[in-house]
Amino acid sequence: MHIDLRSDTVTNPTQGMLEAMHNAKLGDDVYGEDPTVNALQTRLAKMFGKEKALFFPTGTMANQAAIKLHTQPGEQVICDKYAHIYNYEGGGASFNSGVSCKLVDGHRGMMTAEQVILAIYVPLPRADAQKMSGAVSAALAE
Ligand SMILES: Cc1ncc(COP(=O)(O)O)c(C=O)c1O
Repeated sequence: MHIDLRSDTVTNPTQGMLEAMHNAKLGDDVYGEDPTVNALQTRLAKMFGKEKALFFPTGTMANQAAIKLHTQPGEQVICDKYAHIYNYEGGGASFNSGVSCKLVDGHRGMMTAEQVILAIYVPLPRADAQKMSGAVSAALAE
């Protein structure tokens, strides 16, 4: 067996996965009539203790929908410098949601709570911002 850990995108389905796909019960998901998708959504909602779950066929699509749902235009998304949404989604966060990415220098894609707190942009009135600028710069320099 050849194991390639570069990315989930270089994996190939096993025989069992191919058979499951071939034998899956299908229907029109737009009308909520795909029994396999419905079963998956029900299972995942239960797994995460949520009322509902929604299947997205690609990771990029799920990321973009999530950003749109959780932001307003002009806001920032705090993410690691290697985040997929920043590097590999064609500027989709800006195009679809009107947001920018505030990058954090994490460790292998992981950020600490402190890094996130320090990355939060707090808009201040101009006079307060001028008074505070020294303190804010110091915090960001850490
Ligand atoms: C963290 C992360 N998000 C999103 C994606 C994109 O997934 P897709 O190729 O299904 O759009 C990938 C793909 O490797 C990923 O690793």
